[in-house]
Amino acid sequence: MSEFIGPKQGPWDGEARPLFLAPMSGVTDLPYRLLAKECGADVTITEFTNSTALTREAATSWRRMETHETEVPFIPQIFGGDPGDMATAAEMLAPSADVIDLNFGCPAPKVTNICAGAALMGEPDRLVSMVETIVERVDVPVTAKMRLGTGRDANNSTDICERLEAVGAQRLCIHGRTLRQRYSGVADWTSIKEAVDRVDVPVIANGDVVDAASAAACLEHTGASGLMIGRGAIGRPTVFSDIKVGLGWMDLHDLPWVKTHGRWESMDETEQAFASRKWCWDRYITLSESTIGLQGKWMQRHAIAFTKGLPGAKKIRTLMHEQTTNKAVANAISGFLGEGF
Ligand SMILES: Cc1cc2nc3c(=O)[nH]c(=O)nc-3n(C[C@H](O)[C@H](O)[C@H](O)COP(=O)(O)O)c2cc1C
Repeated sequence: MSEFIGPKQGPWDGEARPLFLAPMSGVTDLPYRLLAKECGADVTITEFTNSTALTREAATSWRRMETHETEVPFIPQIFGGDPGDMATAAEMLAPSADVIDLNFGCPAPKVTNICAGAALMGEPDRLVSMVETIVERVDVPVTAKMRLGTGRDANNSTDICERLEAVGAQRLCIHGRTLRQRYSGVADWTSIKEAVDRVDVPVIANGDVVDAASAAACLEHTGASGLMIGRGAIGRPTVFSDIKVGLGWMDLHDLPWVKTHGRWESMDETEQAFASRKWCWDRYITLSESTIGLQGKWMQRHAIAFTKGLPGAKKIRTLMHEQTTNKAVANAISGFLGEGF
């Protein structure tokens, strides 16, 4: 077993289990993934990238696959409907990847229309043979992230997990919703548990984990070997340490934003939110500068997410528009966050 794929774990007894930052298109750029690690995420995955575009050497797609020597493990995620292109893209990525993750969960029509992403849950033979081919062609571990099914027929994630285990997939992640549900309704952790009980490779549970209470509930319910967090980590990379501190896996006083504030305990919740988000924003900027450089589009998205819900956040867009350089935007957001504590 690869050092980057832990063992399957039994029923949860309160002990620490790995927390994954979910792959999220438009969110999980390289500096954000590095930041999430510093905030307690154990594993991160790139946003999904079109395998056919990668085989055609499309520059924008390869830019999404950028990594840095400090990103360990590096796990690129690819999607596609053409098994040949998926295998070729996996081969191209394998020399730099520690693990390759395959997307069978995306519900976006531009993906499902090419019978890729979650649409492949409706073509299980095609999905399984695609994974089998990729496993044969690369010498790094192959993992897959899927939904419960298409929602058109009976859910088939458990069957697919069994079949993927048989062809050599080393870890499986299930988002507890169907393709048809997209993001509506509540994640069905019971169906995830069914797969956990059926296979011997680690299964990671995904869907609606947003804090320590939901993390504990999900681990208790599913016995999953780890948890993956998506929307709860947008603008809030500290969700990972919140969970770890809340479940006693980590000491609050070891958190860098707590360490830098001697008076943390006397700050109210809003002041703490400003202080932790300022630390995160400043780190995001530093990590960007030391890897891919300041990218205006990425910074704007994260700035809006980082400040969401804070008093005065409505002025963020105007504040950003008033700046003439990316560095000035970085400083303006940092200044805004610094005024709140
Ligand atoms: C903005 C956004 C982008 C996403 N992009 C991807 C992606 O590139 N690859 C993928 O496997 N899932 C993607 N997802 C799905 C998430 O990884 C995750 O499965 C889903 O959000 C459910 O988890 P959550 O309840 O913790 O948010 C995306 C979700 C969101 C909200």
